[in-house]
Amino acid sequence: MNSSPAFLNGEYVPLKDCKISPLDRGFIFGDGIYELLPVYENKAFYLDQHLQRLQRSMAEIRIKNPYSLNEWQSLIENLIQQSDHDDLAIYIQVTRGIAPRDHIFPQATQATVFAMANPLPKVAEEQLQNGVELITSDDIRWQRCDIKVISLLANILARQDAIEASAAEAIMVRDDHALEGAASNLFVIRDGTVYTHPKDNLVLPGITRDFVLELLDELGIEYHEQVIPKEWLYSSDELWITSSIKEVLPATKIDQKVVADGKPGELWRKTYDLYQERKR
Ligand code: PDD
Repeated sequence: MNSSPAFLNGEYVPLKDCKISPLDRGFIFGDGIYELLPVYENKAFYLDQHLQRLQRSMAEIRIKNPYSLNEWQSLIENLIQQSDHDDLAIYIQVTRGIAPRDHIFPQATQATVFAMANPLPKVAEEQLQNGVELITSDDIRWQRCDIKVISLLANILARQDAIEASAAEAIMVRDDHALEGAASNLFVIRDGTVYTHPKDNLVLPGITRDFVLELLDELGIEYHEQVIPKEWLYSSDELWITSSIKEVLPATKIDQKVVADGKPGELWRKTYDLYQERKR
């Protein structure tokens, strides 16, 4: 893992040789954004969408994009070529750079750009066969969950609560609405219709979420982007979570209650199969 190909401020260096100043605002303040994109068979998946979201994240926190679109594309291409693996998770982080510790934006500081390519973790067959468990968690995050910021403490605490409850993911609940997972988007299925929270300030606009909605269009399955009452979690036919790492994963228990018949559902199976076909 330590010898994973990496990139730091214009140079390609093995991950183990990357050095970052403790005065980097990413380290001191969590003042930065990130992006994570999957690569299948040496080809970046939905690259344009990921690079658009990266650009938007920088703009929203007022970091000037240090690279052109072409430069971002070749950075990713180079990491893919340097890796020994064909399926990768590429992580990119941009921080406001190095400056004496002070909350206000530093003048004339260069953004720090870091990226690394790691093997894409495989979704466990057991999770696909039996589905995963979820818990619900009070959403204590800020009001701009649409920006992919590196300050993820609330997400980390929620996810850790899930793991300690032998669950795979925590579903963030705010004002009695089920929004998304700590590191995934949420889909709730009732009477043949799929529901997911709209793309507003309370959820991350997941690239996998959009891909799954495209697959639903193709399959002719009805869906609505609307708020989801928390109690729907306990009376649904199916629950799915989506992310670049988990793809589309069925959940068969939430807060220790069994979802429907306790098995991954029929609509999930159709969507998952098409996902596998389309992703390559
Ligand atoms: N997280 N919501 C949150 C809060 C997330 O952190 C993520 C992804 C998603 C799904 O987004 P996408 O489909 O674009 O991966 C939704 C990544 C995987 C992470 O933090 O590692």
